[in-house]
Amino acid sequence: MNGKIVLVTGANGGLGTYVTKAFLEAGATVVGTSRKIQQSEFNSPKFTAIAAELSTSGGAQRLIDQIASRFGNIDVLAHTVGGFAGGKPIAQTDDATFQKMLDMNFTSAFYLLRAALPAIRKAGYGRIVAIASRAAVDPGPGVGAYSASKAALVSLLRTVAAENKDAGITANVILPGTIDTPANRKAMPTADVTKWVQPANIASLVVWLASKAGVDFNGAVIPVYGKDA
Ligand SMILES: NC(=O)c1ccc[n+]([C@@H]2O[C@H](COP(=O)([O-])OP(=O)(O)OC[C@H]3O[C@@H](n4cnc5c(N)ncnc54)[C@H](OP(=O)(O)O)[C@@H]3O)[C@@H](O)[C@H]2O)c1
Repeated sequence: MNGKIVLVTGANGGLGTYVTKAFLEAGATVVGTSRKIQQSEFNSPKFTAIAAELSTSGGAQRLIDQIASRFGNIDVLAHTVGGFAGGKPIAQTDDATFQKMLDMNFTSAFYLLRAALPAIRKAGYGRIVAIASRAAVDPGPGVGAYSASKAALVSLLRTVAAENKDAGITANVILPGTIDTPANRKAMPTADVTKWVQPANIASLVVWLASKAGVDFNGAVIPVYGKDA
C-alpha cells in the first residue's frame, strides 16, 4: 500500500484500531477519523488524525475537503463507523433509537460516500470497503432498527459498486458476526469468546480488498461469522 492515501473512519474504534494499524503496517498513508480522535492515538509518521462528525452532511464534506487540500485525493476508503442500539421489538422501538441507528450506520455512510466519491474517482485507483453486520441479512428479534440500517448500508455499497465500476473502483461490504472487542467482552462477560471474530482477521481482509489483488471483487457482500457460522 506504499504511496496510497487511505481514509479509515471510526479509526479509534474496537475494529477501526486494527484496520488503521493494518494499513500503516502495509505502508499506506492513513488519515484516521472519528468525532474524538487524537493524533497521539497512533504512533506513526504516516498517520494523520482529523476529527469529524460524519452523521451530518457538512461534517462529512469538511473532512473530505481537508483531506483533498492536504493529500490531493483518496485511494482507499475503509468505513468502519457504526454501532448498536436496540433490544426491543419494532412496536416498542422509540424514535431516538431508530434515528440513532440510521445516523450511525446509514446516513453517515451516505454523506461520506457522496462527498468522497469525486476524490476517489480522481485518484485513479479506488477501493471502498464498509463494515455492515450479519444482522443486515440475518435479522433477529429486538434488533430491527439496527438490522434495517445495516441492510440499507449494504444496498448503498452495492449501488456505489455499480455506479463506479466504469472508473475501476471497487466497493465491497463485510458482514461481521460478534467481534472480539473490549466493549463486547465487558458487555457479555460470560459469553464464549472463542466463537467471536478476531478484529485483526477482518482488518486483514479489508487491506486485501483494498490491494491491487482485490480488483476483481466488486459489489461483494462478505460474511465473516467466526465459529458461529
Ligand atoms: N462489535 C461487534 O460485535 C460488531 C458486530 C457486527 C458489526 N459491527 C460493526 O463494525 C463496526 C465497528 O464496530 P466496533 O465494535 O469497532 O465499534 P466502536 O468500537 O463503537 O467504534 C465506532 C467508531 O465510530 C466512531 N463514530 C461513531 N459515531 C460517529 C460519528 N457520528 N461520526 C464520526 N465517527 C463516529 C467512534 O469514535 P468517536 O466516538 O470518537 O466518534 C469509533 O471510532 C461498526 O460499523 C459496527 O456496527 C460490530
